[in-house]
Amino acid sequence: MFKFLDKGSNKMAPAKKLASELDFASAEAYNLLRTNVSFALAGKDGGAKLFGVSSPCPQEGKSFTSINLSYALAKDGHKVLLIDADMRRPSVSTVLELSRTPGLSNVLAGANPDETIHYGTLHENLDVLLSGDIPPNPSELLGSPMMQRLIGEFGEKYDYIVVDLPPVTAVADPLIMSKMLDGIIVVVRHAYTRKRNIREAVRQLHFSGVRILGFVYNGYHHGSGRYYKKSKYYRKDYAYKENKEA
Ligand SMILES: Nc1ncnc2c1ncn2[C@@H]1O[C@H](COP(=O)(O)OP(=O)(O)O)[C@@H](O)[C@H]1O
Ligand SMILES: [Mg+2]
Repeated sequence: MFKFLDKGSNKMAPAKKLASELDFASAEAYNLLRTNVSFALAGKDGGAKLFGVSSPCPQEGKSFTSINLSYALAKDGHKVLLIDADMRRPSVSTVLELSRTPGLSNVLAGANPDETIHYGTLHENLDVLLSGDIPPNPSELLGSPMMQRLIGEFGEKYDYIVVDLPPVTAVADPLIMSKMLDGIIVVVRHAYTRKRNIREAVRQLHFSGVRILGFVYNGYHHGSGRYYKKSKYYRKDYAYKENKEA
């Protein structure tokens, strides 16, 4: 398991600091995660190393991890593309304060990727493809031959492609997309993610033959030893899941 330490992260407030603004301990944790991921993918021959970031449920830190890990990889000299593939509840655009559209869904519908990608975001080596207009059929789009082709083209230009995915137990998108990926990192959040949800996510990933590269233990405030009370966000997220499944 990639153990990830971060300060004050259990309160579910939007993280004000990320990438270059992270405190030393957090930045070091992402550097360690970067090293672990690069070892996990070391055997890959040619093309970009391509992995997804998912978790059992919403709000566990998938997008936060995707952004900070992408930044850590870019800072280390790798050319990185971060794709926000959570078309149902995109958040990378909000965090980075960039316009979500046009984005991935638009490229899959024919828009020019070169005019859609945000080049040099947070770091000169980091490009970002946001999610685009919310489509009625995200699973179909993500599993389409066009998506496969796009990933193939990006694979020639980048060292790493990081795909921010929706939660495993909520929708089928991560499992559908995983066929195109070298593996998936599973984020679990301290004092928030339930064991049974981890079990269920792992069961689904194994059933679909997904390679789990490792787990990120997010939001553990080292030394506090306290368990924070679950906030209203927890219930809200389950409402989100139920709505999306309906
Ligand atoms: N380690 C962390 N430290 C501080 N804030 C965090 C951390 N992980 C997640 N957050 C915050 O928690 C909220 C949910 O995280 P997010 O990455 O959007 O979750 P997900 O993509 O899994 O739904 C966001 O406001 C995010 O900024
Ligand atoms: Mg997210």
